[in-house]
Amino acid sequence: MNVLVIGSGGREHALCWKIAQSPKVDKVYVAPGNAGTAIDAVNVPIKETDFEALIQFAKRNDVGLTVVGPEVPLTLGIVDAFEKEGLRIFGPNAQAAQMEGSKTFCKKILQSGKVPTASYAEFTDADNAIYWLRTGGDAAAVVKADGLAAGKGVIVCANRQEAIDAVRRISEDREFGDAGRRFIIEDLLVGQEASVLAITDGKTIMTLQPAQDHKAAYNGDTGPNTGGMGAYCPASLVDDDLLHKIESNILVPTVHALNRAGTPFRGVLYAGLMITSSGPMVLEYNARFGDPECQPLLMRLKTDLVEVMEATIDQRLDQLEPLAWDDRPAVCLVMASEGYPGSVKKKGFPISGLDEAGKMEGVKVFHAGTAMKDGAVVNNGGRVLGVTALGGTVAEAKKLAYEAAGKIHWEGAWYRDDIADKEINRR
Ligand code: AMP
Ligand code: GLY
Repeated sequence: MNVLVIGSGGREHALCWKIAQSPKVDKVYVAPGNAGTAIDAVNVPIKETDFEALIQFAKRNDVGLTVVGPEVPLTLGIVDAFEKEGLRIFGPNAQAAQMEGSKTFCKKILQSGKVPTASYAEFTDADNAIYWLRTGGDAAAVVKADGLAAGKGVIVCANRQEAIDAVRRISEDREFGDAGRRFIIEDLLVGQEASVLAITDGKTIMTLQPAQDHKAAYNGDTGPNTGGMGAYCPASLVDDDLLHKIESNILVPTVHALNRAGTPFRGVLYAGLMITSSGPMVLEYNARFGDPECQPLLMRLKTDLVEVMEATIDQRLDQLEPLAWDDRPAVCLVMASEGYPGSVKKKGFPISGLDEAGKMEGVKVFHAGTAMKDGAVVNNGGRVLGVTALGGTVAEAKKLAYEAAGKIHWEGAWYRDDIADKEINRR
């Protein structure tokens, strides 16, 4: 069977790499891909939102399974468009993808399933929201644009004045465009964050091992928010007991509430959780694999991912064996370009050391913002590489990932020094 992966980031490189290992798969195509996916798959120069061209490509190249990486094509209805043409595709349809595409949709599902999450109020009008804030207390709050904002539409505020400023930025200045036409204000939750991803066919839930992302740009979780500067898996913050609790109190009622709402979910349901002193609570749901969480997760997953994806489409996940995992933990370290998470002005620098790093035992260098120029791999975006390593312990995996990253150079490259330290210090 031929498989088509949609997207161009580190997550999609990891998907290509893992899918290519399946005995069921002949050829892996990726649209549009990057310089790294070209090694593990065949790049196809079609944009991830050009559904018509993607459908034509899938038909002409005998693609038996399409796998969608990012959220934008999902919320725009790529799954609906492919299914209408009788093509098999892994991911939620546009309605179910609203779990990520609309914070208010997600909150309503969570309320209907009595899933623990911060209490909130919904607004379309800045004046109403500011009045509401002024008549409430001076507590910390979180203001969130309703729509997709590339992970940036969330403003954590220490007090009422900051919240009022955030409302103005989202609703009046439209800092996140139309995503801010509607917005919510919710209570601040305190604790440690964890990512628990599950694959579901709407009836059965296969929970993946817990992971932890590092969203802040700089060491010690300081600096601006990013798409994620590194991740590790498993995260002992979520032990077996807690994982069961998350399944029964969060994932199961969410999947049921989605069914009751007439929006059954098939695909990856990614719960962004805050582990608070009163238990795990949902910060957000995503409708896809996390990036970079996907990289360490797939390094450890032994089960054939294609089999799981096909069973999801056919709603027979209940017939599969439990997922099998490599016992070794994995750490993914993101190497970024100068300027990230702001705008990256310096692109096109040759990247050296990729082969040397990639040859190290237990290491895989996943590409994100890379391209080919004059026969060389160059940086072409903010997050450039996800250097991922397996180790006997998290500390060993971290050491190996940093050793590998140390061999890789381009002008302006940087990364955090403390990926996975939270885990190492917890032990
Ligand atoms: P989200 O896109 O909703 O996950 O928000 C992005 C980040 O904002 C999360 O990873 C948290 O660090 C933070 N955040 C979101 N909602 C809350 C909340 N209610 N309390 C505390 N932090 C939050
Ligand atoms: N790593 C966070 C995300 O994929 O949304």
